Amino acid sequence: MLLAVINCSQLVTLKGEARPRVGAEMRELAIIEDGAMLVRGGRIERVGTRQQIEELIEGGCEIVDAAGRVVMPGFVDAHAHPVFAGTRVDEYEMRAGGLTYQEIAAHGGGIRQTVRRTRAATEDELVITAKHRANWFLRTGTTTVEAKSGYGLSIEDELKMLRAVRRLNEETPLCYVPTFLGAHEVPDEFQGRRAAYVDVVIEEMLPRVAGEGLAVYCDVFCEENVFDTGQARRILLAARGMGLGLRVHADQLSLSGGAMLAAELGATTADHLEHTDAAGISALRAAGVQPVLLPGSVYALGSSRYPAARAMIDAGLAVVIATDFNPGSSPTPSMPMILSLATTQMKMTPAEGITAATINAAYSVGRGGEIGSLEKGKRADFVIYDCADYREVAYFFGIEHAAAVFIDGRLVHSCGGHNTVDVTGQLHALPPD
Ligand code: NIG
Ligand code: FE
Repeated sequence: MLLAVINCSQLVTLKGEARPRVGAEMRELAIIEDGAMLVRGGRIERVGTRQQIEELIEGGCEIVDAAGRVVMPGFVDAHAHPVFAGTRVDEYEMRAGGLTYQEIAAHGGGIRQTVRRTRAATEDELVITAKHRANWFLRTGTTTVEAKSGYGLSIEDELKMLRAVRRLNEETPLCYVPTFLGAHEVPDEFQGRRAAYVDVVIEEMLPRVAGEGLAVYCDVFCEENVFDTGQARRILLAARGMGLGLRVHADQLSLSGGAMLAAELGATTADHLEHTDAAGISALRAAGVQPVLLPGSVYALGSSRYPAARAMIDAGLAVVIATDFNPGSSPTPSMPMILSLATTQMKMTPAEGITAATINAAYSVGRGGEIGSLEKGKRADFVIYDCADYREVAYFFGIEHAAAVFIDGRLVHSCGGHNTVDVTGQLHALPPD
């Protein structure tokens, strides 16, 4: 099937070398003004100016008229916890009253609270709620999302979460990249027996997860009072031995050695990094680890300690930004909200933010050859935004900009009213203003 997307005020292609973008490259979006794109069988066949593409239109070609609006690749949300039961609105309210995230966790709340609820839910129930949230991702312009386990913390409950992710891949249009996070917290029944729990993760959980092909990556929450660097190292080395890629929750709440460990192990990503110092940044640089920055969790925890994005870009790191969507520290699925925080709080330019949220993010989940930019041969995952300048997606915050979302060249979401994209099989003139 042939599809032509025409009349894009800006076609934000992110065309470039086949690798993550660093330094000044992060500000180069390879925008085609009055751009257009030809898609065949769900793959991008050609991008160019409207005139160039219109010449290639054949009979039977479906036409999507972007009506003078911005078209960009779908966002790749490279760090999320999208499968869980219940909410933590009660803790949210307690934090407004002055309690901290760590105090709540120390009293048995936090992650362990969501673990109790997730254990009580069936796989079907987890899938139903996560499907509802899949729509939240889609309608804010996300087309691929990394999905961590970590609210089961027993063999069967971790497998249940990862099987739910596998079903979401089959039953929703969104693409999920599964990550095993059995070392997210020490569950209630192992309190005071942390080392014994680490053994269970390594000896019992990892072989089942890897054996059933349920995860591509393994992640560990490396933090004071959670898993120390020695425990995290053991888990990550075992995971690597079973063929999984490595990600680390690092230096989120304290400088606890997570970034250094990610560098030592040559992990794919080190995530959070709010407390990482200059030595950590240069170690990540030397080891080629991608930092995944999660300003939504800083914001939602009421902190002002954002990670040092500017220093990381200046040091030549291939920075990624993501939502960290989860019921505790970051209850947002919205990449445009993250772009807003990246610009206002971390002083990234909107262009750097978009690179971090698309092509760099795609490389960080091992899909850089397939998604993250609008280039020949890539999957046609793209979004029409209700604006004429890409910077508006970060600038106007708190609204949903995505007018139409396509995955594999198929329309998977469009918002109602005058924004509905017209897919009729005929060329359309620009609608009057
Ligand atoms: O990335 N820090 C650990 N994990 C999550 C929080 C999960 C939760 O609070 O439920 C994070 O912030
Ligand atoms: Fe997280």
